[in-house]
Amino acid sequence: MNLSEIRELVHVGRPDAPYGVRALARCYSVGDLRRLARRRLPAGALGYLEGGGEDEWTLRRNREAFSEVELVPRVLRDVSQPDTGTTVLGTPMPLPLILSPVGSPGMFHHDGELAVARAARHAGLTYGVSTLATQPLEAIADAAQGTPLWFQLYLWGDRSAARKLVAQARAAGYRALLLTVDSAVRSKRERELRHGLTLPTPELTLGTVLDAARHPAWAWHFLTSPALGFPNLAMNGPTSRQRLTQMFDGTVGWADLDWIRQEWDGPIALKGVLSEEDARRAADQGVDAVIVSNHGGRQLDHTPPTLAVLPGIADAVGDRVEVLFDSGIRRGSDIVTALALGARAVLIGRAHLYGLAAAGEAGVRHAIDILAGEVRATMALCGAASLADLDRSLVRATRPPAPGLPE
Ligand SMILES: Cc1cc2nc3c(=O)[nH]c(=O)nc-3n(C[C@H](O)[C@H](O)[C@H](O)COP(=O)(O)O)c2cc1C
Repeated sequence: MNLSEIRELVHVGRPDAPYGVRALARCYSVGDLRRLARRRLPAGALGYLEGGGEDEWTLRRNREAFSEVELVPRVLRDVSQPDTGTTVLGTPMPLPLILSPVGSPGMFHHDGELAVARAARHAGLTYGVSTLATQPLEAIADAAQGTPLWFQLYLWGDRSAARKLVAQARAAGYRALLLTVDSAVRSKRERELRHGLTLPTPELTLGTVLDAARHPAWAWHFLTSPALGFPNLAMNGPTSRQRLTQMFDGTVGWADLDWIRQEWDGPIALKGVLSEEDARRAADQGVDAVIVSNHGGRQLDHTPPTLAVLPGIADAVGDRVEVLFDSGIRRGSDIVTALALGARAVLIGRAHLYGLAAAGEAGVRHAIDILAGEVRATMALCGAASLADLDRSLVRATRPPAPGLPE
């Protein structure tokens, strides 16, 4: 039996209290939000949020790479009016920060993508919506109310389904297409397997019931909200995980870019590029941006941390394509470091999801506020008045340097 079936039998009232909002006052960092999220979520959902591929080596290395660099500040510069504005893929943004596409955010908070879209609107930030969204693309666009949305596309064997999705995103006003290319097949995520996690709806077993009982606020809202599904793929129910695995069938190739270009007349970014050669090829094929990403350590284990390959990729493509970055961002200083090493902007996955799990829209707003404040303070303390002042002279590798980082 599945939780969505239980929902039909049990009618429970909705608690009024806002979920987790008061506790936000004591959260001063993304790490604090993480602690709150870890208390709120049952083990299956937490394993899905935090886990990585196989031994999670890449997951750890993504964070360690930020500890292997130092910032060398410049002093006595006028930083009284820090300018953090930029334009990415033709989208103006007040901060070089984009909310990453995430599948099944409804698992972390009952308002899911709608909460994230509203928080993005509040901050004027761009939100990348996943193919595996748990809300219809149009409903997310309604919640975003004109705030720029990008659509993240997973391609699989049935290309006609992708064509339909791209048309749906265009009609709903999505501005750019992120084609995720690091997921030819879905990786082995042992935390998910251990907790018997099924997407989009957790399966009901004795273990999941006991676990949910230990997290009553999450469980209460989960049971009193509509059942989770992948409405843009018309996929529901406990067999979805199996169908998901079948979807990633390894058939996507460079030639697919040509027909995608015909279906989509807006900007296109390749998400999940880690080699200089692939970045150059993307530029040759007319892609507008590459996103240096290892999927937050969730796909191939033992890839390099993204920070280590960023400078080489930025050099390889020069001004031919925009270079974006993600995987491991938890601090404003991480964002400043990535920009100094060649990124135009960064995407954040878990950093905004910790806020979402902690307190829904208010939690995502809090995560954005924390990072925005840290970016401004780090820039000012580094003597940078605008993003143009962030260059490689600011960053130095601690000894010994990670491969790829500047000496
Ligand atoms: C729970 C979760 C689900 C994700 N789902 C998707 C997805 O559907 N599509 C995608 O392109 N990336 C997905 N990602 C990867 C993120 O877009 C992003 O690349 C990654 O989270 C960045 O690393 P960070 O979490 O350390 O910031 C997901 C990440 C997480 C944590």
